[in-house]
Amino acid sequence: MANRLLILLAFTALFLFSNSVLCKDSKGKDVVNDNDDDDDEDLSFLEEADAKGEAASHKFNPGQDEAEDQYHEDDDDFGNFSDFDDSGLDQDAYKEPEVDDKDVVVLKERNFTTYAAAATELKGENVVLAKVDATEENELAQEYDVQGFPTVYFFVDGVHKPYSGQRTKEAIVTWIKKKIGPGINNITTTEEAEGILNSEGKVVLGFLNSLVGSESDELAAASRLEDDVNFYQTVSPNVAKLFHIDPEVKRPALVLIKKEAEKLSRFDGKFDKSSIVEFVFANKLPLVTVFTRENAPAIFESTIKKQLLLFASSNDSKKVVPIFQEAAKSFKGKLIFVYVETDNEDVGKPVSEYFGVSGDAPTVLAYTGNDDAKKFVLDKEVTLDSVKAFGEDFLEDKLKPFFKSDPIPETNDGDVKIVVGNNFDEIVLDESKDVLLEIYAPWCGHCQALEPTYNKLAKHLRGIESIVIAKMDGTTNEHPRAKSDGFPTLLFFPAGNKSFDPITVDTDRTVVAFYKFLKKNASIPFKLQKPASPPKSESTDAKETPESSTPSPPKSESTDAKETPKTSTPSDLKDEL
Ligand SMILES: *[C@@H]1O[C@H](CO)[C@@H](O)[C@H](O)[C@H]1NC(C)=O
Ligand SMILES: *[C@@H]1O[C@H](CO)[C@@H](O)[C@H](O)[C@H]1NC(C)=O
Ligand SMILES: *[C@@H]1O[C@H](CO)[C@@H](O)[C@H](O)[C@H]1NC(C)=O
Ligand SMILES: *[C@@H]1O[C@H](CO)[C@@H](O)[C@H](O)[C@H]1NC(C)=O
Ligand SMILES: *[C@@H]1O[C@H](CO)[C@@H](O)[C@H](O)[C@H]1NC(C)=O
Ligand SMILES: *[C@@H]1O[C@H](CO)[C@@H](O)[C@H](O)[C@H]1NC(C)=O
Repeated sequence: MANRLLILLAFTALFLFSNSVLCKDSKGKDVVNDNDDDDDEDLSFLEEADAKGEAASHKFNPGQDEAEDQYHEDDDDFGNFSDFDDSGLDQDAYKEPEVDDKDVVVLKERNFTTYAAAATELKGENVVLAKVDATEENELAQEYDVQGFPTVYFFVDGVHKPYSGQRTKEAIVTWIKKKIGPGINNITTTEEAEGILNSEGKVVLGFLNSLVGSESDELAAASRLEDDVNFYQTVSPNVAKLFHIDPEVKRPALVLIKKEAEKLSRFDGKFDKSSIVEFVFANKLPLVTVFTRENAPAIFESTIKKQLLLFASSNDSKKVVPIFQEAAKSFKGKLIFVYVETDNEDVGKPVSEYFGVSGDAPTVLAYTGNDDAKKFVLDKEVTLDSVKAFGEDFLEDKLKPFFKSDPIPETNDGDVKIVVGNNFDEIVLDESKDVLLEIYAPWCGHCQALEPTYNKLAKHLRGIESIVIAKMDGTTNEHPRAKSDGFPTLLFFPAGNKSFDPITVDTDRTVVAFYKFLKKNASIPFKLQKPASPPKSESTDAKETPESSTPSPPKSESTDAKETPKTSTPSDLKDEL
C-alpha cells in the first residue's frame, strides 16, 4: 500500500523578518497639507516646528539605516522567543537533519505543487523527505505560511501539518512512524528487546496477556495519541525482565523507559487509553531539559506552557541541577524544568540575555511561555524547599511578575519622561494622565529620525499637566502592557481607561499629526495656546469649548476656560519659533 506522505523542510535565512518589522518608517510622508481637519484650530505654529523636524530626518541616510538594522537584527532583537529560537541564532549552526543529502528532494516553486500532489502517487517509496530553500522559493514559503526556519511540514494526501518535535533524526522518524505505522509493535525475542533499548531514547512497553484483544487495543489507541514515544507490547516474561518488569507481576503491566537521569517510570493506573496517555505525557519529558538548539522546539511548543528555568554556570550546575531535578519530580506533567548553562557562549548566553538574567549566582525564573510571556523570579537561595514553594505559587498564579528594567532614573523632569520596566506602572498606568509612549531601540534609525519631532511635541505640551509624553528603551525594558511589534512603536494610554489595551498610534510622524491624534483621543480635553500673536483665536476657542462635554473625563473641571493654567505659556513656544 502506497502511503501518501511527504515531509518538507524549509530552511535558511531570515527573509520574513524584514527590516521594516523591526525598525519602522511611518506610513505616510505628508506633512503640511493635511487639511482634512474638522476643528479649525490654527496649527501653523506647530507645522513650522515640523518643517524643522522633517529637515532633520532627511539628513538620515536610509541605506545606512538598512545596513545597520540588518546587523542588529541578528544579535539585538528577538521579536519574540519563537523567532529567536528558530532564526535568531545563526543558521550556520543549524545542523541539517541527519539524513543523507542525496535522499532529500529539492523542490522548486514550479514543481512543488505538483510534487505535493504527486506524493500521493508515489509507489514503493513510502515517505519522501524534501527540502525547500525558502529564501529562493518566496511564494511557496508564503503560501505555506512559513514563519521561521527551519519549518517542517508533514503532508498526508496533500494536507499539511506542522512538525513541532525535536529536530533530531530519531524524533522525526518516531513521529513519521506514528503517522504511518500500526501504532504498536510486538517484541517477541530478547534480541529485539535489546536492540530497541539500545537504539531508542524513550519507549513504552506493555506486558500483556495477549498480543491481540482489548488490552492491546487500548495500548495501540494510546500510542496514536502520543507523538513522541514508540509503544511496544510483549507477552514474553524474558522481554519484560529486560524492561525492568517483574515477570511474575500481574498483567497487564506497563513501563516507560528513558535514557536519562530518571530512567524508569512504572504505570499503576487503570489500563485504558486515557490513563496511559496521561501517564506517558507526565513522564516522558526529562526531569530537567537542558536548553540546546535541538531541544528548544520541544520546550517551547510543548502543550505544557509553564516553565521553570534554572540559570547557572556549568560549575554551579553540579550543585544546583540535582536540587532542581529533585524538585521537578513534584511537578511532572505540570511544569517543564529547563536548565540554561549561562557560560555557554553559543546558546546559554543569548538565552540569559533574552530573559534579562545577569550575574553569576544561580537564578530560577518562572516563565508562562511565549503567548503571554510573563516572568517571575525566585528571590531566594536555590534550595529544594524554595524551588518547590516557588513552583506551587507559580501554578496557583500567586507570583509577582519580573520585568527587564533599567534602573529607575533619579531625576525625570525632562519634557520626555523616561519610562523603564520598574516605573512603567507609576508613569504609564497613572489613571489621571493621558500618556503617549514611544518604545524605541537605540540602534534604530527611524527612532533616531523621530527623536527631534518627538522632543518638540513634548516641549509644546509640557505645560499641559494631563498629558505625558514618554519613551522607553525597548531593548532593555519590558512590561506586559507594552507590546511592540518593532521600533519605534507608539502607544497611547488614555486617562481613566488604563485597563484597556493602549491605542497604537499610526499617524504620520509629525508634530501636527501627533498633536491632532492627542487632541482626538485624549480622555482629558486640553487646549494648547498659540504663541503670543494677534488674537485671532476667539472664534476657534468658542468652537473648542463643547469638547468639555466629552464623556466623563476624570479631570475636566477647568479645561474649557480659555486661559487656564493648563495651557502652556506663550514664552515656551516663543523659544521654539
Ligand atoms: C523539479 O524541477 C527541477 C527543475 O525543473 C527538476 O530538475 C527536478 O527533477 C524536479 N523535481 C521533481 C522531484 O520533480
Ligand atoms: C503482533 O502480534 C499479533 C499476534 O500475533 C498480530 O496480530 C499483530 O499483527 C502483530 N503486530 C504487528 C505490528 O506486527
Ligand atoms: C570552575 O571551577 C574550577 C575549579 O574549581 C575553576 O578552576 C574554574 O575557574 C571555574 N570556572 C568558572 C567559570 O568559574
Ligand atoms: C511570536 O510568538 C507567537 C507565539 O509563540 C507566535 O504565534 C507568533 O507568530 C510569533 N511572532 C512572529 C512575528 O513570528
Ligand atoms: C476605554 O477604551 C475602550 C477600548 O478602546 C473603549 O471601547 C471605551 O469606550 C473606553 N472607555 C472610556 C470610558 O473611555
Ligand atoms: C484617534 O485620533 C485619530 C486622529 O488622529 C483618529 O483617526 C482615531 O480614530 C482616533 N482613535 C480612537 C481610538 O479614537
